[in-house]
Amino acid sequence: MNTFRTKTVEQSIQDTEEPTHQLRRSLSALDLIVFGVGVIIGTGIFVLTGKAAGTQAGPAVAISFVIAGFVCGLAALCYAELASTVPVAGSAYTFSYATLGELVAWIIGWDLILELALGASTVAVGWSTYFVDLANEYGIALPSWAYNSPQTQGRGIQHNLVAAIIVLLLTAVICLGIKVSARVNAVVVAIKLTIVLLVIVAGLFYVRAANYSPFIPPSGSKGTDAPAAAPSLLQDWGFGVGSFGVAGIFTAAALVFFAFIGFDIVATAAEETRNPQRDMPRGILGSLVICTTLYVAVSLVVTGMVHFDKLEVNAPLASAFRSVGADTIATIISWGALAGLTTVMMILLLGQSRIFFAMSRDRLLPPFFSIVSPRFGTPIRATVVTGVVVAVVASLIPLSELAELVNIGTLFAFVLVAIGVIILRRTRPDLPRSFRVPGVPWLPILSCLATFYLMLNLPGLTWVRFFIWMAIGLVVYFLYGARHSRLPEREKEPAAT
Ligand code: ALA
Repeated sequence: MNTFRTKTVEQSIQDTEEPTHQLRRSLSALDLIVFGVGVIIGTGIFVLTGKAAGTQAGPAVAISFVIAGFVCGLAALCYAELASTVPVAGSAYTFSYATLGELVAWIIGWDLILELALGASTVAVGWSTYFVDLANEYGIALPSWAYNSPQTQGRGIQHNLVAAIIVLLLTAVICLGIKVSARVNAVVVAIKLTIVLLVIVAGLFYVRAANYSPFIPPSGSKGTDAPAAAPSLLQDWGFGVGSFGVAGIFTAAALVFFAFIGFDIVATAAEETRNPQRDMPRGILGSLVICTTLYVAVSLVVTGMVHFDKLEVNAPLASAFRSVGADTIATIISWGALAGLTTVMMILLLGQSRIFFAMSRDRLLPPFFSIVSPRFGTPIRATVVTGVVVAVVASLIPLSELAELVNIGTLFAFVLVAIGVIILRRTRPDLPRSFRVPGVPWLPILSCLATFYLMLNLPGLTWVRFFIWMAIGLVVYFLYGARHSRLPEREKEPAAT
């Protein structure tokens, strides 16, 4: 068994031309940016900002956003190069199959489940809290057993049914076809951007300089009443103690990193893009720049409106406006958040189904997942399975437990993608690259180091969970994928011309 066998870039591209596995090419650069912004702006800014500022960094959470954005920017350059060289569905999974070998590709594919499926569950839980909040606004009190995660209250039978139902509804939309999804997405993205700009512009009028003092709360400061943030692995090792202080800025960066997740998912749509070589890099980098700017502005405004130790953890943006008496704006924001989180979930679900699709086409997963519906041109079975699994997880696990695990999974994928860029430059210097990372190998190396540093700022328990998940993945690979892989049989075929 050769676990380091690689699938050539030509084979990957050839796969996309097989009639039974063909996805429809319909997206432009603008579609991709809309797609990117649609998945990037979500729970991170609408929900996690409160926890990060209130329990870890105070107003300096703006710096945390810059740090996380910087790390993502480096990784985005690497993603852009690989997406423009290997324009095939499957993102980091496909890139690593072509560069680092089948085992690493599997590890990445398995790891991406954390980012995409678990990410979708995380956002669904965030969505449910806004939904319940708005329902309350209009005098509709939902029973708590229908929207609480079991662990939240610790007694009685309760499932987050609200989260599960929204996931299933969106799964149905995705099954109808990517162009329909992109259109729905475009409308919602416009609403979401308007809301974010509303927060920034309207919020400016309520900013008080006193709230910025101290801008970096000293280590050990008391934050909001929410449970304190878990210490990071670095803190466990004795580097920095407790919350806040400079160390707190980095732990907050590792948490708000969640807000940036998604730009890499743009790369999963390479096979459905009309001109991937040109449009992929534009789509990925464009959406990232727009979002970073908005995040820094929003976090500065919100921590300027409310002192960090008074910030709400659940719906921080809406609550900030309520606390200054601007109730109507708060309600508008809640509606926007609801719409915003909807597109995020949709695209995460879409990305996950495409990764399953790609892995199944390579027979690392059963063939069932890669059958494309002739009527809709989408992998319906992979999509439905994804939707059901995400709905079940969302109904059972609380948001805070999920976000950090999603982050570590995504950051790990970044490390492998950066390594992939360096390797592919050496092994296949001949391939056309419409986008080239400047300063190879130094920039990808810097990307690896920065990403790894952010990972070290996540809690020790998150690392343990991550290792367990990856160990399960290895067992599945050796029991199924390694035995059924299509690669050995393809290596015997004559080379593609
Ligand atoms: N970046 C996405 C969010 O913040 C996943 O919800």
